[in-house]
Amino acid sequence: MSRIRIAPSLLSADFAAMGEELISMERAGADLLHCDVMDGVFVPNITFGIKMVADIRKRTSLPLDCHLMIVEPWKYVEAFAKAGAAYITVHYEACGDRLGEVLQAIRGCGVKAGAVVNPDTPVSVLQNVLPLCDMVLLMSVFPGFGGQKYIGSVTAKIREMKDMLRAAGRDIPIEIDGGITPDNVAEVKAAGAEVIVAGSAVFGAADRRAAVAALRERTK
Ligand code: DX5
Ligand code: ZN
Repeated sequence: MSRIRIAPSLLSADFAAMGEELISMERAGADLLHCDVMDGVFVPNITFGIKMVADIRKRTSLPLDCHLMIVEPWKYVEAFAKAGAAYITVHYEACGDRLGEVLQAIRGCGVKAGAVVNPDTPVSVLQNVLPLCDMVLLMSVFPGFGGQKYIGSVTAKIREMKDMLRAAGRDIPIEIDGGITPDNVAEVKAAGAEVIVAGSAVFGAADRRAAVAALRERTK
């Protein structure tokens, strides 16, 4: 059985105390750190960018999973790679026909590449780029904000994605992002998700270590 990886989303961290938040996530047992980069154009919210990722990189040894919710992401791939991203994921909705080219550019920088689809985009749009992906990310909320409710219909999309990957002979992880809690993590794991993003469920918990452990425990 595949081991799941927990990726707390720094969107829910206290940005003014980021150094301490990173230590808190290491102590909590996070496997990687999910960095939500938002530009206020692709999504109706603004977070942080390249310098923040570079500064985070200096303060933690955990791999950084950079989720780019920005228009024209290809312009910034190299900069995020240099900043120390382990994964860079880009949206089909931001890249369109250029998605394959952008994934290749990410890999060309020596970084793992991931393609993302929004809840209302069919997974079939990724069919042609699967050979260029090291991970696929399915959004289970509309991107922009933490603390939203999991969209139940995405569970069937995880299964569909898993079948597509199997048929394509691609043994790469499916990441799920949005509204994940100890109450639905077993469902997404059973459907085929392996990398679990959780923002409010981890940062909002009184005991963050227990929150990460609960997510892991519920998938056993
Ligand atoms: C949403 C972000 C998510 C978000 C997840 O736009 O991509 O990563 O922070 O937060 P929760 O787990 O609170 O839904
Ligand atoms: Zn995200």
